[in-house]
Amino acid sequence: MKTLLLSSSLSPTSQSRQLCRRVAETLAAEPGVELDFVDLREVELRPCHLGKTPSMKELAERIALADNYIFGMGVHCYSINDGLKLVLDNCMKGCEGKFFGILCAAGGEKSYLSSMHLTQMCMNEWRMLQLPRVVYAHDGDFQDGVLSNPAIEERLELFVREFRCIGQKLIA
Ligand SMILES: Cc1cc2nc3c(=O)[nH]c(=O)nc-3n(C[C@H](O)[C@H](O)[C@H](O)COP(=O)(O)O)c2cc1C
Repeated sequence: MKTLLLSSSLSPTSQSRQLCRRVAETLAAEPGVELDFVDLREVELRPCHLGKTPSMKELAERIALADNYIFGMGVHCYSINDGLKLVLDNCMKGCEGKFFGILCAAGGEKSYLSSMHLTQMCMNEWRMLQLPRVVYAHDGDFQDGVLSNPAIEERLELFVREFRCIGQKLIA
């Protein structure tokens, strides 16, 4: 299966990118998985109505080619981060009915429902199906900017196992 993992934070010290990197390392080593890792900092973003940049067009093509998706997001104002919204508004052709999972980082431990906005958009707009396990990490799970909570590491492993198992069944 071809999985596109989108690390959507534009922060140079992103915590959700760490979650994405960990998942990418494990998932890419699984047999039958072809991983396309997108770091959104490398895409030149432009708001809707102003037209897509060449790198946004390329991202849209990569998204259309994937069988399923993993979205890494940071929580902004109890919702998704700005860069991810631009991708959803502009680059999501060809993702109808496909499977996806969410890796989420936040400042506080109480913002865990914020990823529901991404769930709603993907399900309502493109009839996508979500892995019913979000990995949610907050500032307290990182020490000196590095993921340091073994419980989150365990959840990431479980996320990869379940994502691969269900993802492969859905395209078989
Ligand atoms: C504009 C903005 C809004 C934020 N809003 C929230 C919030 O509502 N709840 C929360 O727990 N953290 C909030 N945070 C903290 C981020 O979720 C946190 O820094 C997280 O690590 C961001 O993900 P990233 O490091 O991958 O960019 C906010 C941060 C920014 C910059």
